[in-house]
Amino acid sequence: MKDNKLNIRTIQPGEESLVCDLVTHVSRQFILEEFTPEGYGLFQTYANPDAMADRVKAGGLVLVCESATSIVGMIELRGENHIALFFVKSLGQGIGRALFDAAIQIKRRETPGLTEITVHASLFAVPAYVGLGFEPTGPECFENGIKYVPMEYRIARVLP
Ligand SMILES: CC(C)(COP(=O)(O)OP(=O)(O)OC[C@H]1O[C@@H](n2cnc3c(N)ncnc32)[C@H](O)[C@@H]1OP(=O)(O)O)[C@@H](O)C(=O)NCCC(=O)NCCS
Repeated sequence: MKDNKLNIRTIQPGEESLVCDLVTHVSRQFILEEFTPEGYGLFQTYANPDAMADRVKAGGLVLVCESATSIVGMIELRGENHIALFFVKSLGQGIGRALFDAAIQIKRRETPGLTEITVHASLFAVPAYVGLGFEPTGPECFENGIKYVPMEYRIARVLP
């Protein structure tokens, strides 16, 4: 991480609105055009504070990155290994890398034999996912009003 004042931690109860506001703000800025109106509506029902709180209560993982003053990024994984939401306020500053590395460590502890992390990448984020080490596993898809590229990150058997 380029700014060593940033801290990665799990979301705390009551922070869901702040986190979902960040997701809404960044998604409108960069990926809105990849959705039909119905698709974006569906996305918003997922990036919703109550729904997020329910997912966390049910064991879902949401990590946030906080600066001295605010939450500047988030990652959510559902199931064993699928990235459901991944959004940062200031792109290209290493915040995504820090969140992703922290999420992998937690998931590997939970599931020692874990071999891959998957994502339905927004078209906009494909270069960043490639930068993180993901590879496409299929062609661009369009499903429920949302465009995405299925991608996968292979976890090294031996970690440094
Ligand atoms: C996807 C996202 C969360 C990644 O977070 P980020 O903070 O921008 O990522 P980082 O700065 O940590 O970059 C991760 C790696 O990808 C590389 N990278 C990032 N953006 C890149 C780009 N546009 N082109 C090429 N490489 C890129 C970085 O160099 C870095 O590699 P390194 O660690 O070897 O230097 C962020 O870009 C984002 O919020 N995008 C908009 C919302 C979105 O589309 N989210 C994904 C939904 S599926």
